[in-house]
Amino acid sequence: MEFSIKSGSPEKQRSACVVVGIFESRKLSGPAEIIDRGARQHLSDLLRRGDMEGKPGTTLLLHNVPGTLADRVLLVGLGKEKEFREKEYRNAIATAVRTLNETGGFDGTLYLTELPVKKRDVTWRIRQAVMVSMETLYRFDQLKSRKDDVRRPLRKLTFCVARRSELAAAEAALGEGQAIAEGQRLMKDLANLPGNHCTPGYLAEQARALAEAHGLGIEVLEKADMEKLGMNTLLAVARGSHEPPKFIVLKHQGGGKDVKPIVLVGKGITFDTGGISLKPAPEMDEMKYDMSGAASVIGTLKAVALMQLPLNVIGVIPTTENMPGGSAIKPGDVVTSLSGQTVEILNTDAEGRLILCDALTYVERFDPECVVDVATLTGACVIALGNVATGLLANNEALARELLDSGQNAYDRAWQLPLWEDYQEQLKSPFADMANIGGRMAGTITAACFLARFTQKYPWAHLDVAGTAYRGGEKKGSTGRPVPLLTHFLLERAADARAQAKKPGRRRKSTA
Ligand code: BES
Ligand code: MN
Ligand code: ZN
Repeated sequence: MEFSIKSGSPEKQRSACVVVGIFESRKLSGPAEIIDRGARQHLSDLLRRGDMEGKPGTTLLLHNVPGTLADRVLLVGLGKEKEFREKEYRNAIATAVRTLNETGGFDGTLYLTELPVKKRDVTWRIRQAVMVSMETLYRFDQLKSRKDDVRRPLRKLTFCVARRSELAAAEAALGEGQAIAEGQRLMKDLANLPGNHCTPGYLAEQARALAEAHGLGIEVLEKADMEKLGMNTLLAVARGSHEPPKFIVLKHQGGGKDVKPIVLVGKGITFDTGGISLKPAPEMDEMKYDMSGAASVIGTLKAVALMQLPLNVIGVIPTTENMPGGSAIKPGDVVTSLSGQTVEILNTDAEGRLILCDALTYVERFDPECVVDVATLTGACVIALGNVATGLLANNEALARELLDSGQNAYDRAWQLPLWEDYQEQLKSPFADMANIGGRMAGTITAACFLARFTQKYPWAHLDVAGTAYRGGEKKGSTGRPVPLLTHFLLERAADARAQAKKPGRRRKSTA
């Protein structure tokens, strides 16, 4: 898809289709009014006759509208003007793009991007427009032998801004939106690919390809390297599988040599059967999405590389299958993690924390500015927050706040849960330093409490995306979350870094 920005009058656009909004009930938005005036009230006549109310999700496609240079004019319902907010804006863009793609034209010029959205500026509106457009047009048909092609697919979208003074900001936002959307698409492709295709080896290959294409540094540790280091909790999970585990490190060096890196760690279980603590059969196929954290880290690094952010960012991905097998770990087994702490594995289905804890110890060597891990970690998080909010837990309030704000700005929201010491009790084990499960209560918190025992040397936040990284059931598929949250977080950090470079002496408040 090609995108561009424009500022100009709607009736003068030579386009296959010009898109303008209609509020409920039958109220023309500004650009619609301009077209209406030039068309001797053609639009308001149609509305008065009852052809369109302006309800959200509705559209009306018009041909040969007098006074316009475009082949078509598409009216998109926006709902009540007073209730037109972020979600409504996103839905209007999605409706427009879906309809354009099903209409004959190759291109569309959207005036919806001029609509005011409370508390949001042109940067937000354009970034979101690109992300929503790419999201709407996304298909995963790699594995279909016959692809159901759209007859005349949409090739170009132009987003309009009301003032010429907004052009520069809009162009920058367009580039950022495209980079984020590309990262999200990569995440979705990786996550939607089933376990027999997307193995730990495949993830390593894809990371290598990304590194080569975008000049990122890459290192892949093999099983023997992990043995030498003593990553025994990661290796314990890998024991039941015939697929060799990998430990992937991707590096974007956009900041100075002595600038501490931001480290992202992603859970890469390419299939989670539960191991000997086997999961029930229904919906087990969805456990191919248990590498969504890994996919989001790879996708985010792609976006960071495309935007050439002036930051040092390291992506770390421990990846393996979790399978039952003759040499699989058994409930009650005790293993020594890379940190030296011992773990009694009471449930082999609580494997995510076992591969993450070794990764979280490993990253100490980078002397990180902060570490954010992303994992489809607990079913309990799906029960607590559903598919709307990602669970966020952190050992550092400033970092937690920053990520919550980034989630709000990206429309990829997270909600914080407490990481109080009081919950640590649930992880007590009579045979080891800790157990890998904490009982039925507060499952998301005790999982994070487990990780917290390995992250004491740096500011750290944990994103539990079990409910948000993919949709199950009818509309099954990866959502690309939390790539928007992570990229917005990094964009903010990059803006801080740029400001700091301009004003020596003034340093950002450290999260440490
Ligand atoms: N990958 C799952 C968590 C999960 C469950 C993600 C449902 C998405 C949807 C994780 O490895 C797991 O199995 N967690 C267990 C932990 C329990 C044994 C303490 C869970 O949540 O049931
Ligand atoms: Mn599991
Ligand atoms: Zn899992």
